[in-house]
Amino acid sequence: MAALPKKVRIVEVGPRDGLQNEKAEVPTKVKLELIGRLADAGLRAIEATAFVSPKWIPQMADHTEVLEGIKRKPGVSYPVLTPNLKGFQAALAAGAAEVAIFGAASEAFSKKNINCSIAESLERFRPVAEAARAAKVKLRGYISCVLGCPYEGDVPAQKVAEVAQALYDLGCYEVSLGDTIGTGTPGRTKGMIEACARRVPIEHLAGHYHDTYGQALANIYASMELGVATFDSSVAGLGGCPYAKGASGNVATEDVVYMLDGLGIETGVDLGKLVDTGQWICGVIGKEPQSKAGKALAAKRSH
Ligand code: HMG
Ligand code: MG
Repeated sequence: MAALPKKVRIVEVGPRDGLQNEKAEVPTKVKLELIGRLADAGLRAIEATAFVSPKWIPQMADHTEVLEGIKRKPGVSYPVLTPNLKGFQAALAAGAAEVAIFGAASEAFSKKNINCSIAESLERFRPVAEAARAAKVKLRGYISCVLGCPYEGDVPAQKVAEVAQALYDLGCYEVSLGDTIGTGTPGRTKGMIEACARRVPIEHLAGHYHDTYGQALANIYASMELGVATFDSSVAGLGGCPYAKGASGNVATEDVVYMLDGLGIETGVDLGKLVDTGQWICGVIGKEPQSKAGKALAAKRSH
């Protein structure tokens, strides 16, 4: 077992993974304020939006306005999702310096989410990867359903590892392993990561755990024990996935930072400012914050 990392990189995905699933229309200026507040709280990677089809995900239809409207802070990256070349070109024109392609380890989910098989998706990603390399745009990769699929059930770790290697070979500097429906438990998470780490160096793997079954923090801890030091999370636990019914949001960033602070692991994030941001966005969109630490800290303050 590796020693726990001294530092963890948090990729804040609330403005994308969180807001893509909101029923209420969130105005572009609210999204921009959210991104600005997250950067002020010390987050250094903030996934801003998705250059996907507005027919599929209307919540991300303002992607160009969002990416162009960000007051960029030095040292902060603002990655965006790009499922195909069309999305990549639009993202590049709007100033993207980092993009993410997203595939799945389950055929049924791939079909529902991006309307093609896993093999077809990898072929679709190839020109995106080439264009990103040519434009010196950083490329990240996601795999959905690494610990279970809403349509197919169990997903073999070997399949996840195969897709992870394919994305890494395409030029992704990091492959983020998505427990889309949050069914994973620490033992299975470790098995899946070990399988991936046999094909992709562990420092190029990240954990992206939805908290549907309350397992995400335990899965993060288990992943850190194997040497994973990058995790995706969403302020106030916003979100879910439009193609995974019942899936709740990502693990809340406040909960992750609280745990890591307690372990003496550096994140660079100011928990107080983060809690304020979670309270603020939930107030604006009329949603109960999903972060336990966030709620507890906010309640303590109001006494
Ligand atoms: P398709 O219908 O197969 O694509 O969709 P197509 O190439 O046949 O094009 C159909 C129409 O979409 C055309 O427009 C295209 O121009 C347009 P029309 O002629 O009908 O007017 N189009 C686009 N428009 C804007 N941006 C684009 C784009 N591409 C085509 N990039 C496609 C294929 C991939 C586009 C579609 O399935 C799609 O947009 N899917 C996105 C689904 C999505 O965003 N899901 C959520 C994000 S993934 C996630 O949450 C999981 C993750 O968090 C990890 C985890 O938790 O597991 C990352
Ligand atoms: Mg997700």
